[in-house]
Amino acid sequence: MHYLVTGHTGFKGAWLTLLLERLGHTVSGLALDPAPDALYTRARLADVLEHDLRVDVRDGAATAAAIALVAPDVVVHLAAQPLVRESYRDPRTTWETNVNGTFNVLEGIATTPGIRAALVITTDKVYRNVDQLWGYRETDPLGGVDPYSASKAAADLLTQSWIASSGCTVPTAIARAGNVVGGGDVCNDRLMVDLVAAFSAGQPVRLRYPHAVRPWQHVLDCLNGYLTLVDALLDGRHAGEAFNFGPGTRSFVEVGVLAEEVACLWGPDSVVELDDAPALHEAGLLALDARKAELRLGWRDRLGLHDTLAWTVAWAQRTLGGEDARAVTQAQIDDFRRLDGVDLDGWR
Ligand SMILES: NC(=O)c1ccc[n+]([C@@H]2O[C@H](COP(=O)([O-])OP(=O)(O)OC[C@H]3O[C@@H](n4cnc5c(N)ncnc54)[C@H](O)[C@@H]3O)[C@@H](O)[C@H]2O)c1
Repeated sequence: MHYLVTGHTGFKGAWLTLLLERLGHTVSGLALDPAPDALYTRARLADVLEHDLRVDVRDGAATAAAIALVAPDVVVHLAAQPLVRESYRDPRTTWETNVNGTFNVLEGIATTPGIRAALVITTDKVYRNVDQLWGYRETDPLGGVDPYSASKAAADLLTQSWIASSGCTVPTAIARAGNVVGGGDVCNDRLMVDLVAAFSAGQPVRLRYPHAVRPWQHVLDCLNGYLTLVDALLDGRHAGEAFNFGPGTRSFVEVGVLAEEVACLWGPDSVVELDDAPALHEAGLLALDARKAELRLGWRDRLGLHDTLAWTVAWAQRTLGGEDARAVTQAQIDDFRRLDGVDLDGWR
C-alpha cells in the first residue's frame, strides 16, 4: 500500500512515516521544510520516502499536482499550523493553512484517480469548550475561541461538508485526538518539549497553566487509532464519520502533576516551578470520550500515562546518550507492536 502523509516533516508525521515503513508500506510525504533538529532530519526520513515533496498546502495547484504525482492509495492529512500561541501571533497563516490547506488537499484527492481512502486529522480542540468534566463525544457541537481551535473546527466542518456535498467517492473520515507526546517533538510551546529541553540542560522549568487538566497520550497510541480507522475505510466501513482517539480518564492530569512525574523519571536535580500569572486564553479541561472508537473499531489506548511518559523520557535520554534517533524510534515502534491487544499486523 502506498501512503501519502501530509506534514511528514513534523512530529506526528515523522512517527507515522517510520511506523508505516516498519509495517512494509511505501510512504511519500508532502510538507514544508522541517524545523531545526526535527525527528524528520534526525531519523533520516528522506532515505525511506518514495517522494519527499516540499509543497505549501495553501497553494491549490501545487498541492493537486503533488498528490497526482504521488498517486497514493491512502492519504493522511496532518499538515497544519498546530500551535495555539502561534495562532494568536499569526492568525492569517493559521487560518489559511488549516482551512484553505485542507480544502486544497481534499480537492487534490478528488482529482487524483485510484485513491482508496483519506483521513483528515483535526484535534480535540474542535469541540466548543463548555468546561464540562466529562469527555466530548463526536456528536457534540464544534467551536473554538483561539484561532488554532476555531480554524481546526472549521477544517473539520469543511471536511464534513466536502464528504456530503462534493460528489467525491473516496472514502474519507475525520480523526480527532488531543495532546500527544513522544520522542523527537521540537514544537515550541509544548509541555513535554519544554520539560525535556530544560531537564537535559539542567535548568528549572517554569510552568504556564499548572492547574489545567489535559489528557496525555503517546503518539503511537494516537497513530494506532488513525491506522485502525484507515483500515476500516479500506474495508468499506465508517466513511463520512468522525472518531475521537483519546486516552482513558486515568491519563487526565494537571500540567503541574505531569511535570512532577516527568521530573521524577528524568532523575535528581530536575526542578519544576509553577507560574500562576494570568495568560492568553487557553481551554481549561478538554477531554475526549473515545467509546465510539473502542466499540466500533476495537481501538483502545494501550500505554497508559506512566508508560507514555517513561517511553518519552527514555527516547530523549537514549538519543542524548548518543543512540541513533531512527533506531530508538523503530525500537519503540516494535515494542508497541508487541503490546497486548495491538493488532498492527492487521493494518494494510
Ligand atoms: N501534537 C499534538 O499534540 C496534536 C494534538 C492534536 C492535533 N494535532 C494535529 O496533528 C497534526 C500534526 O501535528 P504535529 O504535532 O505533528 O505538528 P508539527 O508542527 O510537528 O508538524 C506540522 C507539519 O505540517 C506541515 N505544514 C505546516 N504548514 C504547512 C503548509 N502551509 N503546507 C504544507 N505543510 C505544512 C509542517 O511542515 C509539518 O510537517 C496537525 O494537524 C495538528 O493540528 C496534533
